[in-house]
Amino acid sequence: MTYVLPNVVRTSLNERGNLDNTVYVRPNMVCTFMNKRKDLAMTTWVWVAFLRPPKNLKDYGSWALITGSTDGIGKALAFELASKGLNLVLVSRDTSKLENTCNAIRETYGSSIQVKYIVIDFAKDKGPEIVEKIEQDISGLDVGLLINNAGLTNPYLEYFVDIESQYTDDIIRVNINGATWMTKAVLPVMLKKKKGAIVNVGSASGFIPLPLSTVYAATKSYMETFSRSISLEYKQHGIHVQCQTPFIVATKMTSIRRSSFFIPSAESIVEPAYARLDMNIMPYWTHSIFWFILDALPDALLECLVLRHYLILREKALLKKSMKNKKNP
Ligand SMILES: NC(=O)c1ccc[n+]([C@@H]2O[C@H](COP(=O)([O-])OP(=O)(O)OC[C@H]3O[C@@H](n4cnc5c(N)ncnc54)[C@H](OP(=O)(O)O)[C@@H]3O)[C@@H](O)[C@H]2O)c1
Repeated sequence: MTYVLPNVVRTSLNERGNLDNTVYVRPNMVCTFMNKRKDLAMTTWVWVAFLRPPKNLKDYGSWALITGSTDGIGKALAFELASKGLNLVLVSRDTSKLENTCNAIRETYGSSIQVKYIVIDFAKDKGPEIVEKIEQDISGLDVGLLINNAGLTNPYLEYFVDIESQYTDDIIRVNINGATWMTKAVLPVMLKKKKGAIVNVGSASGFIPLPLSTVYAATKSYMETFSRSISLEYKQHGIHVQCQTPFIVATKMTSIRRSSFFIPSAESIVEPAYARLDMNIMPYWTHSIFWFILDALPDALLECLVLRHYLILREKALLKKSMKNKKNP
């Protein structure tokens, strides 16, 4: 990746001397072209994020399937889609959490929508079993929307070799196998009616390295490539595929309870995210601003900042853990 750097940054990097080999400055013509591309990207973003009227999701079909719908983004999304009149199939691993979520949705929206659930543990169930179960349970339903949202990361920031093998295995299974096999099960139903939308919940860590959560970040790169490639295969058959790539959201996964300007709540990202399903997006506008800022940094500087940030977070977490252990030996 190459970057157009403001003069001041370029000079200071050169003076320090240690980042020279990773900073590429483009010739003028290329710079102009890149600037125009950025202008165009910015204009498209403003149009898509703020001005374009939202899609009517019911046009794809009257049912939506959401994986990982008992917590965080998936749960918020289930309520959002129910508010738009879509019937829901919730997919997660915990029966009682699924029942609770279904009941809460029924209490809020009454009999105007139907909700059912399917229990699948993406860390344990094998691909063909997932396909069989889903095919059976959605038979006869007009499914228009599949949201591959279920996701898992390591419970603490840790070096790759020091993460328990079971976690590494589960992260790959839930994040990659889950989305892949769900798509395999649902896409044929959409192809039959020549319309449908598949949303894969990726992450900004799919394109920015995330040290100490390496496997998680790599699975999110898979989501992005999977989405772009499958979109090319099926766009002409009326299927929209989108990969959403949020930065940090306040959920159980991040252990962040309170939202802030750059860290939205799950509830606040789902509404803008589902207003547009035909392009890959960063669903929340402050995340887009954050990305514009990061994207202007040279790779080496960005990587250095990211590594420092996560090492500090790890130190803090370890300190907190040892204090807790001292209190309750
Ligand atoms: N939070 C962020 O900062 C952030 C940023 C970028 C992208 N994302 C992505 O957004 C998606 C949702 O994240 P979140 O923050 O909402 O996470 P979350 O609050 O931890 O919720 C994760 C959901 O996935 C389900 N799940 C976990 N393991 C499963 C398994 N083995 N089988 C079936 N379902 C399973 C969970 O069910 P249980 O309740 O039973 O565990 C839960 O419903 C993930 O794909 C994540 O990578 C999150």
